[in-house]
Amino acid sequence: MSQLLVLHNSLNPENSASRAMTEAYLAQVRAADPAVRVIERDLAADPLPHLPPAILPAMFGQTVQPGPEAQAAALSDRLIAELEQADVIVLGAPLYNFTIPSTLKAWLDYVVRSGRTFRYTEAGPEGLLPPGKRVLVFTASGGVYSQGPAAALDHLVPYLQAVLGMIGLTQVEVVRAEGMALPEAQQARAQAITQAARLAA
Ligand SMILES: Cc1cc2nc3c(=O)[nH]c(=O)nc-3n(C[C@H](O)[C@H](O)[C@H](O)COP(=O)(O)O)c2cc1C
Repeated sequence: MSQLLVLHNSLNPENSASRAMTEAYLAQVRAADPAVRVIERDLAADPLPHLPPAILPAMFGQTVQPGPEAQAAALSDRLIAELEQADVIVLGAPLYNFTIPSTLKAWLDYVVRSGRTFRYTEAGPEGLLPPGKRVLVFTASGGVYSQGPAAALDHLVPYLQAVLGMIGLTQVEVVRAEGMALPEAQQARAQAITQAARLAA
């Protein structure tokens, strides 16, 4: 039995392409393994707070005082535990202003933690999450960024690869629903949903 961590981030879940990809993937996974355990967080509907100043000691492995410091550290601990337990992490990631939604950034800020999910070495940062986890990024954008004139403006896929790699999540697979604001949107969306569902195989 495997465990999934699913993070939704679309502001528009009823019409969301990234959400539809995520649901198509989940449907296939559940059909193949009805016992699969899934933790879902809708970070758009229920956003995490920005990091508060009180979290600084926890972020650098220092002694945490009872009160606000302990509360902030506890939220980070909980989110990291969800990540550690997951075999597959599914990130629904609409492109907002050329990058990830701030809701997903807030989650990353809690889980990228020195001494817990990465450490600094002489050779640079080293990821501490157990190896073998798979990350699926289901992203959607109004324009096209995988190729063409806007490719240099894609600060979503390269950023996620970099920050996830830093904590040891190096197996990142990306499915893009691109051109959602373009005339071929329906076809591109359908293709992306099919591609996402296939990742469950
Ligand atoms: C706040 C906001 C910012 C956006 N910024 C961009 C952008 O920079 N580039 C782009 O191509 N589309 C942009 N879009 C369009 C979305 O990426 C597109 O609607 C996508 O389908 C959203 O994902 P979803 O369908 O999963 O909700 C933006 C949409 C919103 C709401």
